[in-house]
Amino acid sequence: MKILLFGRGGQVGWELQRSLSVLGELVALDFDPAHNPAGLCGDFSNLPGLAETIRRVQPDVIVNAAAHTAVDKAEAEPELARAVNTLAPGVLASEAQKLGAWLVHYSTDYVFDGSGQQPWRESDRTGPLSVYGQTKLEGEHAVATCAKHLIFRTSWVYGARGGNFAKTMLRLAGERETLTVIDDQIGAPTSAELLADVTAHALRAALHQPGLAGLYHCVAGGETSWHGYARYVLGQAQALGWQLKAGPDQITPTVSAHYPTPARRPLNSRLDTARLQAAFGLFLPPWQQGVARMLTETLSPPL
Ligand SMILES: NC(=O)c1ccc[n+]([C@@H]2O[C@H](COP(=O)([O-])OP(=O)(O)OC[C@H]3O[C@@H](n4cnc5c(N)ncnc54)[C@H](OP(=O)(O)O)[C@@H]3O)[C@@H](O)[C@H]2O)c1
Repeated sequence: MKILLFGRGGQVGWELQRSLSVLGELVALDFDPAHNPAGLCGDFSNLPGLAETIRRVQPDVIVNAAAHTAVDKAEAEPELARAVNTLAPGVLASEAQKLGAWLVHYSTDYVFDGSGQQPWRESDRTGPLSVYGQTKLEGEHAVATCAKHLIFRTSWVYGARGGNFAKTMLRLAGERETLTVIDDQIGAPTSAELLADVTAHALRAALHQPGLAGLYHCVAGGETSWHGYARYVLGQAQALGWQLKAGPDQITPTVSAHYPTPARRPLNSRLDTARLQAAFGLFLPPWQQGVARMLTETLSPPL
């Protein structure tokens, strides 16, 4: 089996290179052509290049981890966001459909308007508040034109590689005696590792049972606010021996309205994962488990 992965340099793309490697021959492409085999294109603003690449590779499975994820920047460059989040996935879908291949894609809690307190189900009405959310929603529709598709909507993704919210909190807590963090957006921090592992398991099942094609919510178990997340991170760091100027009790909660950003974010980012767990027989561990693991792995104790 041949798997073509786009967006290998991102948080999820990096972990997919690990989790998909045991399923078949993996061709993993980057945005930057210098990192790709000659003649293969991973640039989502080059639609003919993408189509040509898929025709050359002839994959059995396409996995798309590339996206325009700069949520605030997308408000100022909607055309680029639309090209990357909607039009390019549309090209992947039409080429995958012609080949009879599977297409795996990721979407976001930002397709919802964030109202209410209940976890969103896959069948709930969408209502994106931002260009990012709107272009990701249109990307879902484009991907669903390929019969054999798996779309995983997720939230608050972090990876051990590169920058993330937890590392930012640790840096700030090392510099300042108090921090202020939003406590009215509720969701589940979800590790790129978990998404990559679920993808491999779900894909393997779907290959044998095409009726599993569809849209699934995939986030870690439980829920928290950014404030609760920050408190957990600082508590864990202290337990690992970090000396911080601000501990968990020095984080003041505040509301989103005090932090206006170019893109509006949903307040209720809870996603109901019952469909995914039932369809694939998977268990989604509590969010704290992945965050603790990431901190233990990436933060060496101070000397
Ligand atoms: N991050 C989150 O909190 C979050 C939440 C919900 C859903 N998701 C979804 O989860 C998926 C994976 O996200 P992630 O967190 O792994 O994002 P990420 O780390 O930002 O990775 C996205 C990748 O896409 C690449 N990319 C950007 N523009 C591109 C273009 N024009 N052509 C080709 N590649 C391009 C980026 O390359 P460069 O780094 O070189 O720009 C990067 O490698 C996405 O579908 C995202 O919408 C993410």
